[in-house]
Amino acid sequence: MNPIILVAGGTGNLGSKIIRNLVEMGASVRAIVRLDTAPEKIKQLEDSGAIVYCINMMDVQQVANACKDVQCVVSALAGLEEVVLNVQKVLLDGAVLAGVPRFIPSDYSLDFTKFSHGENRNLDWRRIFHTYLDKSSIQSTSIFNGAFADLLKGEMPMILPRQKWILYWGKSEHKMSFTTIKDTARYTAFVALDNSSPRYLIVAGSQLSPRDVCEIMTDITEKKFKLFRAGGLKILSTLIIIARKLAGGENELYPPWQGMQYMRNMIDDRALINHLDNDRYPEMKWTPVKTMLIEHFKK
Ligand SMILES: NC(=O)c1ccc[n+]([C@@H]2O[C@H](COP(=O)([O-])OP(=O)(O)OC[C@H]3O[C@@H](n4cnc5c(N)ncnc54)[C@H](OP(=O)(O)O)[C@@H]3O)[C@@H](O)[C@H]2O)c1
Repeated sequence: MNPIILVAGGTGNLGSKIIRNLVEMGASVRAIVRLDTAPEKIKQLEDSGAIVYCINMMDVQQVANACKDVQCVVSALAGLEEVVLNVQKVLLDGAVLAGVPRFIPSDYSLDFTKFSHGENRNLDWRRIFHTYLDKSSIQSTSIFNGAFADLLKGEMPMILPRQKWILYWGKSEHKMSFTTIKDTARYTAFVALDNSSPRYLIVAGSQLSPRDVCEIMTDITEKKFKLFRAGGLKILSTLIIIARKLAGGENELYPPWQGMQYMRNMIDDRALINHLDNDRYPEMKWTPVKTMLIEHFKK
């Protein structure tokens, strides 16, 4: 019988791609969605091959019913504290109640186990969720993929094509991990089907310093890009405090200061990685950031 995998957050960007990969890999996929989910979103999930369960996602018994015979629950939920802590806790409790052996929490970030509370609001919630997850009987695997490489196309203010600048903080040689959303989704599908996956898996499509990104952009655009250093860790930390006080955005998922907190983590030596789990699945092919940037900037 095909393994049954349940995905929460399947209507989202990452979750929908995880589902497509799982179906392609031969899994039977169940997607749990909220009761008020729009019919078009449900149809998209069905078209991609998932069986959709519209349930009250705050009801442990309903989650458990959907989890019957499931081998792994994959969370790709995204949201504020309420989602990362409360909705994921119900998802976990439902999975445990149904006897699901494995769980993948919605982490998909840099390795936040190296950082402390207060350094990155969104990752703090994930670390708190881990204290709950690690007390449960379920076997779990967190996937740490660094930043989504796709953010380099514009959302992350690092490549400034008009000015031909690579804006960076800290050291120009400091390597940071980037993985495309597509690759993160495919790797997650492999992990969901891997009964012996460990507690943490660390991957990166590319590990690049600001200087590397500068060379890549010069190469692919055939225009000279320059490094622009905005400051060091201390200035960035001060700006985060000011931005958080002045701009607010506590109820937003990604207010500018949260992006700055993420950048501060990325340029920190604690984010440096000396071992990658990229080769765990031989069929997994990684997209180098350069390839993604060529596709984007040469359009
Ligand atoms: N490393 C990085 O650079 C990076 C960048 C972005 C995201 N991420 C991570 O990737 C993961 C997925 O993010 P994404 O961008 O794919 O998210 P997304 O597109 O916003 O999708 C979020 C999903 O969560 C569901 N959801 C939200 N609130 C919910 C609630 N209260 N109850 C039930 N379901 C709820 C949404 O359902 P509806 O369709 O019903 O709203 C949707 O399916 C998250 O862990 C996120 O932090 C990482």
